[in-house]
Amino acid sequence: MNIYSKQNQFINRINTGITGLDKIIEGGLPEKSITLVSGPPGSGKSIFSFQFLYEGINKNETGLFLTLDKKVDGLIIQSKKLGFDFKSAIEDKSVKFRFLNINKKLIYEAMVNEILSGNFDRIVLDSITPLSEMPIYGNYSQNNESNISIINSEEYPPNTNLPIRRLHLHYIINALESTESTSIVTSELPMGSSLFSRDGISEFLADGVIILSFDPTMNRRKMSVMKMRNTKHTLKPQDIEIKEGGIQFI
Ligand SMILES: Nc1ncnc2c1ncn2[C@@H]1O[C@H](COP(=O)(O)OP(=O)(O)OP(=O)(O)O)[C@@H](O)[C@H]1O
Ligand SMILES: [Mg+2]
Repeated sequence: MNIYSKQNQFINRINTGITGLDKIIEGGLPEKSITLVSGPPGSGKSIFSFQFLYEGINKNETGLFLTLDKKVDGLIIQSKKLGFDFKSAIEDKSVKFRFLNINKKLIYEAMVNEILSGNFDRIVLDSITPLSEMPIYGNYSQNNESNISIINSEEYPPNTNLPIRRLHLHYIINALESTESTSIVTSELPMGSSLFSRDGISEFLADGVIILSFDPTMNRRKMSVMKMRNTKHTLKPQDIEIKEGGIQFI
């Protein structure tokens, strides 16, 4: 779907696979945008990601799922239970699931290599939180970003220096931005957090921010679009449910 933006440019919209969401964001995510999907454990971030990639398969697009969770096989089983069967897409190489080992020194390089390894239409990074909390060191200088390297998180204490962490996240977002892909990056949030991401930075770097939340006492799940560049959208939390077929608006 082509939408004529205020900047007089056509913006292609990429369906998320969540029909209700597409309806409130002018038809879908802006093509080539990066959207942060944040929420507490169990709020549906991974299911959102599966649904987004599966929608791509239905449209004969290609996808890359980068996970920091060891159990890629488990993820594929989990997604199949929800009705997203990636088996044949994996076999014909239209979708690639890749595990990134957070304890490996060259994780950032490995991630960038994967991102640049194909012309993926859709990329998911689930989640950015361990990467954004990983220490970095090197001859840090704001003028020479290439001196930064990433080290084994077990050997060095966490880096709390905000400018360096910001630069680190810039690297990750820059890698996604350098592609033609439309990307989803998930971020873990503590229950009841008022932040949009645990690092407090990713939301500024991303083009869009979607918050998933729930109210256990009311047995309700919610989705809120807090930011979506070039898009007129409501900020009102929308009632959602998770069932076979994934996330659906009520
Ligand atoms: N078949 C299903 N039917 C209904 N609800 C389901 C089904 N499968 C999963 N869920 C719900 O979805 C939740 C898991 O969602 P998901 O794995 O996407 O969460 P997440 O935000 O990625 O969590 P984490 O931060 O732990 O990775 C489960 O806790 C459960 O409440
Ligand atoms: Mg998850």
